[in-house]
Amino acid sequence: WRLVLLGAPGVGKGTQAELLNEQLHACHLSTGDVFRAASKSAGQLSPAMKAASDFMRKGELVPDSTVWEMVRERKECLHCVGGFILDGFPRTLGQAESLARLMKEEGISLHAVINYDLPATEIVARLSGRRTCEGCKAVYNVIERPPKTEGLCDKCGGALFQREDDKPESIKVRLDAYDKLTSPLIDFYKKLGALVSVDAHGTPAEICDRTILALQLKTA
Ligand code: AP5
Ligand code: ZN
Repeated sequence: WRLVLLGAPGVGKGTQAELLNEQLHACHLSTGDVFRAASKSAGQLSPAMKAASDFMRKGELVPDSTVWEMVRERKECLHCVGGFILDGFPRTLGQAESLARLMKEEGISLHAVINYDLPATEIVARLSGRRTCEGCKAVYNVIERPPKTEGLCDKCGGALFQREDDKPESIKVRLDAYDKLTSPLIDFYKKLGALVSVDAHGTPAEICDRTILALQLKTA
């Protein structure tokens, strides 16, 4: 499958990408994960990557040119035998157009763009409760999916931390950026006949089953 996961910040795209990938074994490219890893790496950051971590901290989108450079460097992901899951990319019409051009050049097309749908109040709750393991990067939620021992990762025992952009002031900026710049992609992909809408209520496993079913219906 060649998939794009669309949806507001915190709707559960990363959680679903991990679950879907247990079945699909695709290349999972999360632009947010790549930027976060780069900003924590010990090496010297290029000026563009340094600027990217400042945008992220505030909850603003990284400029299209920086995102696109990073995605192009990973274009082998488009040819992974298991397909690919793009998570958090594209996020603007400009990025969607660049992706469409690149895929045309590479002779491939998208199977589906999955749009996860959840009311804003529930999105804020998921974001505010999120904690990430500093060791293995596993994602928890203090309310909905707490670890067995408070503050520690079930998988590796690492300490859990709150992402800087999950603080209330950044959450607001991220949701505004989503409304203005990312939500127009829903119509963009609807017009192309690629959009599959999935209700993001329920447990991660339920949402994953719903996603697989929706994909099967689309190609039936
Ligand atoms: P990115 O990392 O992509 O953040 P995001 O889109 O804001 O998405 P999140 O990672 O916050 O949420 P998610 O939907 O993956 O939810 P998750 O599964 O973690 O981007 C971060 C920043 O990088 C951006 O703000 C921007 O600055 C920059 N950036 C990245 N890509 C860019 C691009 N293409 N262009 C420009 N800038 C870019 O779940 C959230 C929480 O909910 C967790 O606690 C989880 O445990 C919980 N949860 C998940 N599912 C459920 C469920 N079913 N029930 C209850 N809780 C659940
Ligand atoms: Zn861990």
